[in-house]
Amino acid sequence: MAGLIPQAFIDDLLHRTDIVEVIDKRVALKKQGNNFTACCPFHQEKTPSFSVNQDRQFYYCFGCGAGGNAIGFVMNFEQSEFPQAVENLARDAGIEVPREESKTQQRKSSENAIIIEVLELASKFYQYQIRQHEKKSSAVTYLQERGVSGEIARDFGIGYAPTGWENLLTSIGTDDKRQQSLLRAGLIIERNQDKTQNKITDNENSRANGRNYYDRFRERIMFPIRDSRGRTIAFGGRVLNDDKPKYLNSPETAVFRKGSELYGLYEAKKFGEKFNKLLLVEGYMDVIALAQMGIRNAVATLGTATSSRHLNRMFRQVSEIIFCFDGDDAGTAAAWRALETTLPLMEDGRQVKFLFLPRGADPDTHVRAVGQDKFLEELSSAPPLEQFFFDKLSQDLDVNSIEGKARLSNLAKDYIRQIPHGVYGQLMLDRLSELLGVNSESLEKLLATNSPAQESSSPPAENLPPAHPNEWQRSGRHQNLSSNLSVYRKPASLKAIELLLRNPEIALAVSIDLKPLRTAEDEGRKLLLSLIEMVKKDPNTETFTLLGYCYGTSLGNQLTQLLTAEKITPQEGVEDEFLQILDNIMSDIVKKLELLQLKHDLQSRLYAPKDQN
Ligand code: CTP
Ligand code: MN
Repeated sequence: MAGLIPQAFIDDLLHRTDIVEVIDKRVALKKQGNNFTACCPFHQEKTPSFSVNQDRQFYYCFGCGAGGNAIGFVMNFEQSEFPQAVENLARDAGIEVPREESKTQQRKSSENAIIIEVLELASKFYQYQIRQHEKKSSAVTYLQERGVSGEIARDFGIGYAPTGWENLLTSIGTDDKRQQSLLRAGLIIERNQDKTQNKITDNENSRANGRNYYDRFRERIMFPIRDSRGRTIAFGGRVLNDDKPKYLNSPETAVFRKGSELYGLYEAKKFGEKFNKLLLVEGYMDVIALAQMGIRNAVATLGTATSSRHLNRMFRQVSEIIFCFDGDDAGTAAAWRALETTLPLMEDGRQVKFLFLPRGADPDTHVRAVGQDKFLEELSSAPPLEQFFFDKLSQDLDVNSIEGKARLSNLAKDYIRQIPHGVYGQLMLDRLSELLGVNSESLEKLLATNSPAQESSSPPAENLPPAHPNEWQRSGRHQNLSSNLSVYRKPASLKAIELLLRNPEIALAVSIDLKPLRTAEDEGRKLLLSLIEMVKKDPNTETFTLLGYCYGTSLGNQLTQLLTAEKITPQEGVEDEFLQILDNIMSDIVKKLELLQLKHDLQSRLYAPKDQN
C-alpha cells in the first residue's frame, strides 16, 4: 500500500479547499444568511435541513445528524474511503498527494501559517496607511480619479504603500524572526541580493543603520490577492503615475502560485449573490471597475496566461465563463489561447463565451464608457466559443471552395478531438459538417482517419459506479437505530474524542500531566493524546482540522459514525464531562502501570536470589 498521507498535507488541503465549493459541485446549495442550505443528500426530505457553514468549514444536517468537514462529506457522498476522498479533493485543488510521513511537510505547513500571518498584518498596514498616512491624499486622489468608491476600496482591501524604503520593515519586521517571515512572504528584499530591480540609492545610509532589507512595495496602490478562503497570499501594487513597472506583484512564495490564483474570486464569492457565470478579465483595475459598476462576478488572472487550473477553479463555481480581454492584438491572441486551453475542459453543461471589446478599450474603460446596462446586454449577446472558433478558423479561407473546406476540416479536427465525448463535441461536429456541406457520418469517418493514437475512451472516473460501495455507508442507516444501545459499550477514549471534536476548546482546560497517556497502546487513547496536543499547540484549531486528522487513523470511520449518529449535545457540562473521562482514563493507566511495576518488583524479588545461586 502507498504510504500514509502526511497530516500537514491534509491540513493544507483543507485550508485550500472550500467546503462550499466541494458540496455545491455535488448538491446545489442556496445561500441563506451566513450559511448555505440544501435538501440533505443523506436522507429523504422535502424541506432543507442540510446546512453548510463556510466560516467553520463544516456541514451538518439537522434532520439526520450527518456532519463533518470537506473530506468527510466526500467520503459520505461518494461512498469512498479516506485516502480516495483526499485524492479526489487534491485533484480538484490541482495538487498531488504526497505519500510519506515527513517532518519537512509538517514544518512547511507551520511556516506557511507564519507567512500568511505577516501577509495579513501587511494588508492591515497598507489599508491603515491609505486612511492615516500624512501623504495619503496622493493615493486617495488617484483612486477617486479612477472612480473607485470607499465601499469598493473596502471590499477589495485596497491599501497604500507609502514612499520610503523601510515602512513595512520597521513596523512589522520588529525582530529577526518577523523579518525572516516578511522575506519569505516576498514583502521585503535583501539588500545587495536583487541588483536588477532597484537601485538602492540610500544603500550606504541604511547599511550604516544596520538594516539588511528594504520594502518591496513603495509608493504604490496595494491590491491584496486573496485565496478562495479570503486569506491574503500576495499583493499587486500599482504606481500612482506613469513610472515603470506599472504593476509590481509579489514573487512566487510558498503560499502564492501565480498560475492558479484568480484575483477577485474570493470577493465574488463573498458578495451576497450566487453567480452562475464568471467573467474573466486581464487586470486588477478591470475587476475593480466592473465591481464599481455593479458587476461583481469578474475575476482576473495575475499577468499570466489563462491556465486549465484557472479554468477548473472557475468551473467549480459556475457553469459559464465569459472571457473579456482587452481590445488589442494581445487581447485577441490571449482569447485564442484561452480557447485552446478551454477545449479539453468543455464537458457537457459548461458554456464559454467571448466578449470582444472595441480596439483600445479594456473592461475598465469600456464599462465606464457604456454603463452597466449596456455592458450586461453585450455580455448576454457575446458570441459563444463555437462561433469564435469557426469564425477564427475560417477567417482567411474561402469556405466555399473545395480547397478551403479541406483546410478548414484539417484545422478544426485536431481541436475538436480534444473536446470530451458528449453533446458539446457533437454540436461542434454538426456545425463543422454544416460549414463543409457534408453529412456528419462522412465527417466522422474523415476525422477518424489519421487520428493520433486514441487514448483510452473509458469515461472519467467520476462517472463510474463506485468500485466497492463501502460497508460502513451501506449499513449506516441501521447503525443509527442501534447507536443509543451501544453508547455504554463505547470506550471512554472515543467518548472523550467525540466531545473534543465537537468542542476543540475544551482541550485547553486540561491541566493534568498527560505523560502516562504516552505509554498507551490503545488506538483511541493515542489519538486522544494527539488531538489534545494539537489544540494546545494551536488554540485556534478547529473541528474540521481535528476531523481531518482523525479520518487518517484506523478510528476514522468509527468517529465519523459517532458524529453522524448523534445530535449536538448541550454545551453546559461538556468540559466537566471531558475532564472527568480524562481523569478516569489516566487513573486507569496509572493503576495498570503500578500493577505492572508491582508485578515486576515481585518477580525480581522472587527470582533474584535463585539467579544468584
Ligand atoms: N501586469 C503586471 N505587470 C505589468 C503590467 C501588467 O503584472 N507590468 C498585469 C496586472 O495584473 C495588470 C494586468 O496585467 O492588472 C493588465 O495589465 P495592463 O492591461 O497593462 O494594465 P491595466 O489593467 O489596464 O492597468 P491600469 O488600468 O491600471 O493602467
Ligand atoms: Mn486599464
